[in-house]
Amino acid sequence: QVDPEMTLLTYLRRKLGLTGTKLGCAEGGCGACTVMLSRYQTDTNQLQHHAVNACLAPLCSLHLVAVTTVEGIGSVARKLHPVQERIALSHGSQCGFCTPGIVMSMYALLRNNPTPTMESQCFFLSGNLCRCTGYRPILEGYRTFTVVSTDSNGCCLTNGSAAERSLGEEEEEEVRGRSGATPLFNAAEFKPFDPTQEVIFPPELMSCFEAFVLHSYCFVDTCGVCPRLMHTSYMLTS
Ligand code: FES
Ligand code: FES
Repeated sequence: QVDPEMTLLTYLRRKLGLTGTKLGCAEGGCGACTVMLSRYQTDTNQLQHHAVNACLAPLCSLHLVAVTTVEGIGSVARKLHPVQERIALSHGSQCGFCTPGIVMSMYALLRNNPTPTMESQCFFLSGNLCRCTGYRPILEGYRTFTVVSTDSNGCCLTNGSAAERSLGEEEEEEVRGRSGATPLFNAAEFKPFDPTQEVIFPPELMSCFEAFVLHSYCFVDTCGVCPRLMHTSYMLTS
């Protein structure tokens, strides 16, 4: 009996008391309400993770979708996730209102690709606004998750884990060498990100999904002459 007008954000904050997901503009403009939605793709047998504005997502649209909020990836009381820790240690959070949304956008990116490029990082964070910190410390901190390919052979630099070197370290050294400026953070203090330790897609949801797909409906053109499929009927696929 879900109210068809209820959004995911209202449900999380009012019904579940999960207030880590923030309400800012309520119209998809600020990204403070970002959560991660995970859906199983039957055609590719893979999971896809999306950073979504919960203020715009109707609760009824989330059938067989797993929702991950900022509380679900880590906390000060338990243990911070590297995405949460790095934004804090790189001074990327002041009032903190935008921070859960930025954390979840970055987390969704890492769940899809544990070694993203700087371009994809900027793209994933483009829907998140921050009014007080400024974007430099946020991007600098998260730059440590990214990798860059440097030579024509396609080899990565080799001064980091997994034969990859973070763009952040490289630029930090360059800036320090030029100006003698104090770096924003010491990347050596950061906990490594281990994609194998992330929460898995709920197995119960997976079995519900398989049952649902077996009994789903599709449009079939039964007369075969109508180009716009006006004379269609439902047919059971199984
Ligand atoms: S509250 Fe601003 S995008 Fe949802
Ligand atoms: S830390 Fe205040 S809005 Fe981003």
